[in-house]
Amino acid sequence: MVNPRLREALLEGTDLAPFGRLVDAPAEGMTLADVPVERLLATTLSAKVLVLRGYGLLDVPELERYCEAAGELMRWEFGTILDLVVQDDPKNYLFDSGDVPFHWDGAWSERAPRFFLFQCVQGCDPGAGGETVFSDATAVYRDAPPALRDLWARTTVTYRTDHLAHYGGTMSHPVLAEHPTTGETTIRYAEPLDPAQYRNPLFLTVEGPSSEEAVQVMAELSERLHDPRYCYEHAWRTGDIVVAENHALLHGRNRFTGSTNRHMQRIQII
Ligand SMILES: [Fe+2]
Repeated sequence: MVNPRLREALLEGTDLAPFGRLVDAPAEGMTLADVPVERLLATTLSAKVLVLRGYGLLDVPELERYCEAAGELMRWEFGTILDLVVQDDPKNYLFDSGDVPFHWDGAWSERAPRFFLFQCVQGCDPGAGGETVFSDATAVYRDAPPALRDLWARTTVTYRTDHLAHYGGTMSHPVLAEHPTTGETTIRYAEPLDPAQYRNPLFLTVEGPSSEEAVQVMAELSERLHDPRYCYEHAWRTGDIVVAENHALLHGRNRFTGSTNRHMQRIQII
């Protein structure tokens, strides 16, 4: 139950399916800076994905200042804002036009961000793909049969990837975790990246269950996380701002074709 005071604080808009909320700017000339940050966060926590459309984008210092009011920012070697663009000779699949399998942000850091925000500086042509896909891991867990939940509860996955972008190394994470704000059980899982198909491959070792059960763990996760009943696909329009709740969701990207001018900016709030 959302408490009444929180409901009051939520931004009004249109509900997206199967989750998410779209908020159109109520007047021309408004920017993200006109959205009270506590309402932005409360709406995102409730809807899991918040799409703001028609609000002007902020430049880098303004975006940092706005998000700093929401919480501590993740800092990387490039700073706080990652420019997702297609590079000529990328070492990592984030910087080409292929798909990005499901993962959560912060798997390689001590702390995972609570929220991340994208500004779409330049979207893809209509029909060219490049959608960001969000899977509601809390709902996938909630709807799974008890025997499968028990199996997931006994499973830890070790991930290994080379440090070719801003992350990498070896990390282990239990498949299930408690959402730090809502207390719900959520799934933390990053899909494997086959070296034959992806730059910067990601290797998984499943620990806990038997080897047959390990195969079942991965097959069930792959099938259930991609079930359209749990996935919101955001087709980007230039100028969109999307805020996502990192702990409840996994996310990835569809491949895109045509122009390679797609440009997104991402900032993460702890
Ligand atoms: Fe990500």
